[in-house]
Amino acid sequence: MTLLHVDSSILGPYSVSRQLSAEIVAKLRQNTPDIEVHYRDLADEPVPPLSGAYLAAQQPGAPPPSADVQQDIALGGELLNEFLGADIVVIGAPMYNFTISSQLKAWIDRLLIAGKTFRYSENGAEGLVGGKRVIIASSRGGIYSEGAPAAIFEHHEKYLRSVFGFIGVTDIEIVRAEGVAVGPEQRAAAVKTAQDEIAKLANAA
Ligand SMILES: Cc1cc2nc3c(=O)[nH]c(=O)nc-3n(C[C@H](O)[C@H](O)[C@H](O)COP(=O)(O)O)c2cc1C
Repeated sequence: MTLLHVDSSILGPYSVSRQLSAEIVAKLRQNTPDIEVHYRDLADEPVPPLSGAYLAAQQPGAPPPSADVQQDIALGGELLNEFLGADIVVIGAPMYNFTISSQLKAWIDRLLIAGKTFRYSENGAEGLVGGKRVIIASSRGGIYSEGAPAAIFEHHEKYLRSVFGFIGVTDIEIVRAEGVAVGPEQRAAAVKTAQDEIAKLANAA
């Protein structure tokens, strides 16, 4: 059993999503101590944004890429294989400017690869990634749950559900702390709500 733990908050020790993602991993480890955990910190070691040279190198008949582009292609392969090889993926996902962090987006850009994680067929797009459990530790300053006045600005969890659903992941769970910027009491209550959700997570099986 392999678990990939990804963090993407730029707030270091002040990050709520980092705290929650770590607690999720600890909870899953409790009952499955021999679970193999791979950790990737996208703020400490950012994934470079997709470049024109990277994409050009994938075109049929393209000339051999430069050493830099070769390195970038190798990194993309490593990130993809690490994701595909994990039975469980735990993602710390802060909301920045109504959506995910650019660090997380750069990582996701390396996962959506036609022919590897999805394909287009006569029936439209088809996800190729199955049998994976994705758990998202979601943290946001305001309140965006259904019915909230700001719900229309919610492009964060909805985006993550769309993108992982698109590549065929059907088992997506969200542990959420929201309203953490409203004040210290709301922050503590939001973290407590999320921790209660973590306690209820099914064991790694
Ligand atoms: C650059 C930046 C942008 C933010 N944008 C939003 C936002 O659009 N909506 C919101 O509710 N909170 C926003 N916040 C607050 C964060 O969602 C909140 O601090 C959350 O805890 C972030 O997760 P983290 O603590 O793991 O980094 C923003 C915070 C930062 C640092």
